[in-house]
Amino acid sequence: MMIDLVQGSITEVQADAWIVNLFEGVTHPGGATGAVDRLIGGTITRMIESGEFRGKLGETASIYLPMSSGGVPTKKVVVVGLGPSAKFGLEEARRAAGSALNAARSKGTKRIATIVHGAGIGGLDPEEAAQSLAEGSLLAAYRYRAMKKRRASDDSDGTAASSQTSDLDRLIVAEMDAEKVAAIRRGLDRGTVLADSVNFARDLVNTPPSRMTPTILSEHIARMAAEVGLECNVLERAEMEALGLGALLGVARGSDEPPKLIILKYIGNPAEPDVFSYGFVGKGVTFDSGGLSLKQAASMETMKNDMAGAAAVAGAMRSIALLKPNKNVLAVAACVENMPSGRALKPGDVLDTLAGITIEVDNTDAEGRLILADAVAYAARLGAQAIVDVATLTGAVGIALGDVYSGLIANDDGLVQQIQKAAEQSGERFWRLPSDDEYKDAYKSDVADIKNTGGRLGGAITGGLIIGEFVGDTPWAHLDIAATAFTSRTKHYQGKGATGVAVRTLALLASS
Ligand code: BES
Ligand code: MN
Ligand code: ZN
Repeated sequence: MMIDLVQGSITEVQADAWIVNLFEGVTHPGGATGAVDRLIGGTITRMIESGEFRGKLGETASIYLPMSSGGVPTKKVVVVGLGPSAKFGLEEARRAAGSALNAARSKGTKRIATIVHGAGIGGLDPEEAAQSLAEGSLLAAYRYRAMKKRRASDDSDGTAASSQTSDLDRLIVAEMDAEKVAAIRRGLDRGTVLADSVNFARDLVNTPPSRMTPTILSEHIARMAAEVGLECNVLERAEMEALGLGALLGVARGSDEPPKLIILKYIGNPAEPDVFSYGFVGKGVTFDSGGLSLKQAASMETMKNDMAGAAAVAGAMRSIALLKPNKNVLAVAACVENMPSGRALKPGDVLDTLAGITIEVDNTDAEGRLILADAVAYAARLGAQAIVDVATLTGAVGIALGDVYSGLIANDDGLVQQIQKAAEQSGERFWRLPSDDEYKDAYKSDVADIKNTGGRLGGAITGGLIIGEFVGDTPWAHLDIAATAFTSRTKHYQGKGATGVAVRTLALLASS
């Protein structure tokens, strides 16, 4: 879906549907909503008077116009509630845009016209409001359809990862105020970059696991990198052996698919090409069977999403390449399949790591921390000044925080503040968990320096802290997205399946 901007009244825009809005408690719609209301005979006012439409955030009402409505250039008007104006902000604008888009789209809907939620009486900065509009609309429009072969309109070859948005073709944003148009265009462009990058990550995650092996994943990321002008280098098994990435290679051993370590570099400060303000590290387990510590069938069903961390760092790097901050950013994606086989890692094995710390493998299903142990150490070696790893690491994080907040564990308060500031802008939510030294007793090993599990209690904390053992003195934060990377229900701008969580927060962290 492309986003166009026109200066003028939405009532002049030819489209399949128009989207206007209403704050909760407003009885006489003004602005564009008022203009549309007058054009359609006061229907919106009637709906408010009847008490049927109250303007709650995300509430929608669809009004179909009669065939003969005298030259009105649309068939349908969607009114979306913005909630109380006192509580309205950028995330509310994003959600309203998503809900409105979901209500406006129906089979055959190609063109939707909308106003910028919050840029008028909402009092938001027009550029930021437009960015939220683009994000909410493009994220809501996303569908993963590559595997749907039966629909005649499907033009996919079934192997390519490509975000398709059904019949929806164009969102036309109408703005009356000529003075706001330039800012709105900038905001729409920025929102488009961010949302397209999230959708890129969602495609990677939604693709079935045998069609998104480490090799295929590295090809997709390399192609993206070439398109947006990122440096991309993929390390093969032999190079990883030479470097001594024993933990990553240990996990890879059980699979017929070779591991890949994907390195992306964005150089926005060419004066210091070996210093990276941030190193983003992603868990890229393209399928997690558990290995010999085999998962139960039900727990395995969604394990194609165990590479969502790798997808998130790739998506963030895509945004960064397009937003062009003047600093350098590194990303490392550790990509393996975790499988049982005659060559697989065994409980009781001890692995050497790049950092020189030995790990006893208690449970082969705690594989994320093993591959990330080497990947974060490698990011530090490549010159990352601060490391943020992103991983679908533990089931325990969902027990602690549900699917609303992702977990955050860190060794540095300043980095946490930067992440929280970026998250406030993105609308994504991260909750910092404690990381006192006492937790580290849980993963002491009798035979090696540490072991790879810390028991049931505080599992999200001990899992994260094990990764932190490998960063040395580098400021580090860990985002556990195990419960937030994938969803089975649609709400506002968030559709079913992969969410692309962390893409926008990391992109904003590095672009501020
Ligand atoms: N990939 C899983 C974590 C996960 C669980 C992601 C649910 C998404 C949804 C991870 O590799 C894992 O298996 N973790 C184990 C760790 C345990 C063995 C210490 C877990 O959470 O059970
Ligand atoms: Mn696992
Ligand atoms: Zn896993």
